[in-house]
Amino acid sequence: MSERLSFTDLQPRPADMRAEVTAGLSRLPKRLPPKYFYDQRGSRLFDAITELPEYYPTRTEIDILERYGSEMADLVGREVLLVELGSGSSSKIRVLLRALKPAVYMPVDISREHLLEAVTALARGFGELKIHAVCADYTAPFALPAGLGDRPRAVFFPGSSIGNFDPEEGRRFLERVGAILGDGGRLLIGVDLIKDFSVLNAAYNDALGVTADFNTNLLRHINRELDADFDLAGFRHEAFYNSVESRIEMHLISLTEQQVSLAGESFFFHEGESIHTESSYKYSIDGFQSLARGAGYEAERVWTDANDLFSVHCLRFAGVGYGTDGEGGAVSDDSKRQ
Ligand code: AVI
Repeated sequence: MSERLSFTDLQPRPADMRAEVTAGLSRLPKRLPPKYFYDQRGSRLFDAITELPEYYPTRTEIDILERYGSEMADLVGREVLLVELGSGSSSKIRVLLRALKPAVYMPVDISREHLLEAVTALARGFGELKIHAVCADYTAPFALPAGLGDRPRAVFFPGSSIGNFDPEEGRRFLERVGAILGDGGRLLIGVDLIKDFSVLNAAYNDALGVTADFNTNLLRHINRELDADFDLAGFRHEAFYNSVESRIEMHLISLTEQQVSLAGESFFFHEGESIHTESSYKYSIDGFQSLARGAGYEAERVWTDANDLFSVHCLRFAGVGYGTDGEGGAVSDDSKRQ
């Protein structure tokens, strides 16, 4: 690593993955954590999804960032420590970096190889930028490396990855982000909006089958990492919008009665039985702001595209306790449905 580029490795251990996967497969209905989509192949498949004509979120969010980046920088401030959670191929931050001019950029991602490739390419394109990459699972509590100094902090959390938490987990996650930010720190967060069901369903059922491959790759990753024997051809991809919960659900459906062995345990599947692999919650602007208030944030500004497909919010962390009574209110179950 060069002087401008440093790296901290906090990647989860295989033992953690084994415990989470076996716990998920022991539940009824069965579940698997979506963070395990992102081995190197899964990260590349996700990049391919973002280019699909049906998958509107990425290009719409990039348009919003291009259009309003300097307004965002005015609110977030310059010369900050800018932490990006789930940085992937770091493509969105490229749009913002010139406007934000952070003192240090800290991308955090679970996929080590993908992260290292992305930051190496980024460092080439941004000659002056100081980058400190962290390989970590941001969905679980983790501590930022020590010695970052006391400059103001901002967090960028794009892509509507907040939708991959259920609302209560999302609220707790936002509280943990607040602890990184400190009082007064700004969070720029991308949130996918509730819209016509046909647009949502198409985005997760693309004609080329890339999303199906991405979903099945989870089993390939588990086979490799945990020495399991999932038959990839024995499961099919299913994705649909659940309007009661305001979320896309992705599942893998067992095509036959079958048994899978993993870490010395056997898991039985009926024909037609599902593994719920991902939820992707969709919000209204008010519904998301209410969730954020319940985690201690003030909503400062929101930008959307002309068709109201996607939103980017600037939130100011006002401290735990803010918004838990009175007008802001704690998060209610139906906050996402407003
Ligand atoms: C990363 N995350 C926000 C994506 C989403 O839309 O929920 C993951 C994804 N799953 C299928 N397609 C994309």
